[in-house]
Amino acid sequence: MSRTSVLITGGAGFIGSNLCRYWVTTHPEHRVTCFDKLTYAGNLSNIADLIDAGALDFIRGDVADAQTLHKAFERIQPDLVIHLAAETHVDRSLVDPQVFVKTNVLGTATLLEASWDLRRRTGRPNLILHMSTDEVFGSTPKDQSFDETAPYRPASPYSAAKAGADMLVGAYHTTWSLPVAVVHPSNNFGPYQFPEKLIPLMVHNIISENPLPIYGNGRQQRDWIYVEDLCRALDRLSRKAEPGQHYNVATGRLQENIDLVRGLCDLTDARLGRNQGSSRALITHIEDRPGHDLRYALDVAKMTDLGWSPKWTFEAAIEATVDWYLSHREWVENVTSGAYRDYYDHMYGRRLSEAATEPTQ
Ligand code: NAD
Ligand code: DAU
Repeated sequence: MSRTSVLITGGAGFIGSNLCRYWVTTHPEHRVTCFDKLTYAGNLSNIADLIDAGALDFIRGDVADAQTLHKAFERIQPDLVIHLAAETHVDRSLVDPQVFVKTNVLGTATLLEASWDLRRRTGRPNLILHMSTDEVFGSTPKDQSFDETAPYRPASPYSAAKAGADMLVGAYHTTWSLPVAVVHPSNNFGPYQFPEKLIPLMVHNIISENPLPIYGNGRQQRDWIYVEDLCRALDRLSRKAEPGQHYNVATGRLQENIDLVRGLCDLTDARLGRNQGSSRALITHIEDRPGHDLRYALDVAKMTDLGWSPKWTFEAAIEATVDWYLSHREWVENVTSGAYRDYYDHMYGRRLSEAATEPTQ
């Protein structure tokens, strides 16, 4: 019997590299292939040890490039596709929305077409897990949570492009019975996350004693899930998901950004042997993100019914994450050199120079 073939798109990025690592460890009997364009967010060094060990195959390519993708499908003959490849940073989508439309919408359309083309000839893939986000539902009103039937109200070009991709997924399922299910995770954190996202950016700036830019008053709320718990959810869904269905994946615990960042200051200070409270002085409130969603809250009853729940407490996971960044400073240095500095100046330069520093508490 041939080995189950698993294709992970975007596998060199944050969630993707954690998922590749999780999958080859948990399912050594599977043949796993990562397909990735290696944009600024994708880093081959995240998965190089797996490739070198022969545990993971790698193909460099753009999901929006039909020829390359069809060829890859032909070669890999995937039984399971987990589609993560996307442009993912909301702030970048405000300055360069086109690439979000190209990768997230056209890229997903191309992937669906390649899947359908292979499936009608060979019966493969059996399942496609398409990674959406909680952001497609927009901001959740106070005291409410959204289940999977909530209407789509995307606020940023990023979430609008993700919503567009989800609509195409629905159309391929309805029209061709393509076996595809949609996953809506909340904010992930953990190792290998590019330091443009809140947690690694703050840890990086705390270590280097640079200002900690908080958008607006910092009272926006997010549900933070450790990336390993998402990988476990995807594993479960690979066995239990019903095509055409949507699944929320989150912890149910919301935190305000400002509280999260204060906690990161204290934790990192303790790890570095600095005086408690010293990094809080770096907190700097800057002009808010335009269209900033205030609150994301998901109802995860459907995943609970499938027998999944997060294993990690936030406290244990954030300690593991800070420790990972402290012990991987070379990784951070590598990914934040060059183009990252230009991005950082463009995104924060003016706003930081206009900002007021929050008094230490
Ligand atoms: P990331 O930005 O860290 O990684 C994205 C990966 O996709 C990179 O390896 C990049 O090189 C690759 N990629 C980008 N454009 C590509 C293209 N045209 N062709 C092939 N590869 C391409 O992203 P992430 O945070 O790991 O997110 C992965 C997926 O999960 C995305 O679909 C994202 O929308 C979704 N998601 C992320 C979060 C989160 O908190 N990180 C939460 C919900 C949903
Ligand atoms: O909710 C899921 C989404 O989470 C994913 O779909 C996205 O791909 C992922 O980027 C993430 O989006 P957010 O916009 O929520 O994540 P980000 O880390 O950019 O910001 C988290 C919160 O922190 C948000 O309210 C904005 C705020 N923030 C962020 C940065 C980078 C700041 O206050 N200052 C910052 O410098």
